[in-house]
Amino acid sequence: MPRFPWDSLATAGETARAHPDGIVDLSVGTPVDPVPDVVRAALRAADDSPGYPATHGPPQLRAAAAAALARRHGVHGVDPEDVLPTIGSKEFVAWLPSLLGTRPGDTVVIPELAYPTYEAGARLAGAEIVRTDATHSLGPAGPAVLWLNSPSNPTGRVLPAEHLRKVVDWARERGTVVVSDECYLALGWEAEPVSVLDPEVCGGSFEGLLAVHSLSKTSNFAGYRGGFVTGDPALVGELLELRKHAGMIVPRPVQDAMTAALSDDEHLREQRARYAARRERLRPALEEAGFRVDHSVAGLYLWASREEDAWQTVRWLAERGVLVAPGTFYGPEGQRHVRIALTASDERIEAAVRRLRG
Ligand SMILES: Cc1ncc(COP(=O)(O)O)c(C=O)c1O
Repeated sequence: MPRFPWDSLATAGETARAHPDGIVDLSVGTPVDPVPDVVRAALRAADDSPGYPATHGPPQLRAAAAAALARRHGVHGVDPEDVLPTIGSKEFVAWLPSLLGTRPGDTVVIPELAYPTYEAGARLAGAEIVRTDATHSLGPAGPAVLWLNSPSNPTGRVLPAEHLRKVVDWARERGTVVVSDECYLALGWEAEPVSVLDPEVCGGSFEGLLAVHSLSKTSNFAGYRGGFVTGDPALVGELLELRKHAGMIVPRPVQDAMTAALSDDEHLREQRARYAARRERLRPALEEAGFRVDHSVAGLYLWASREEDAWQTVRWLAERGVLVAPGTFYGPEGQRHVRIALTASDERIEAAVRRLRG
């Protein structure tokens, strides 16, 4: 395993913390706004849960997830039986290749610039890793697993339905499982993100496809740990069996909190509005300070460059008390970018804007 990348930000963190008006930490995409009241109430109501919870979750949770996909994302036809709750999505991402039976000699394809856990998961399985956004660069052999992530962490890029459709067709011809990490799907700003399970993409069949969802970002659920996966019934069924054996179970109070979060769209609208407003403040301030913002049409990050080495930009911002992540955390192609998260309070975002303008 490579060194955990965040440890290398310690020095920049110290510099940023020394700012007289305090640090503005835009390095990690961790929610800072309150957990919605409906979610907290559901968690509290289930706090007397002495028995073991079901790995598959209660039927109402699975039904709420299927209904949310239809209502929020136009994904129809998900059978609630094919919804599998996960303990947040990171553990699922990390263990998926192993649980799917990916082994040394198999290949896992990840985006050129990618959330680091795709690589970690492939390494845990001992698989070969290929970083690419272009299936034509892969040759005739079929990889075991191919990850998609639209909107992307770190770039905020959205892949159009035609692109996703081509990848799905390509993968089906080769027996490759396509796993689409859709944790930012509800956060489209200048583009409308599309699920891999949208009929325009999958042609009405979920065969060979998995869509991974997280409640962390849209429902401020990161501290509770809740997500789910759905898609190909055979694959979900296999994963359910394995996760039962391995004890990979969402705690019962959290299952009920998930049901509440998936059944309510009002808190999601409120949270979207908060991030939209922060983005509207921060983006122009960065551009006025000489940054170029690339992609970033959706999701929780601004992918920004000062046309210099990423670590130089990290230091430049740290001297102004603002901590961000170097693009190299996400792949070699990120060496001239930094990733700037929108996950800070309005007050801290205003502090960053003042410092950028000062
Ligand atoms: C692309 C992507 N996938 C998955 C996750 C994991 O989120 P969680 O484990 O909170 O569901 C993150 C978190 O930042 C992410 O950016």
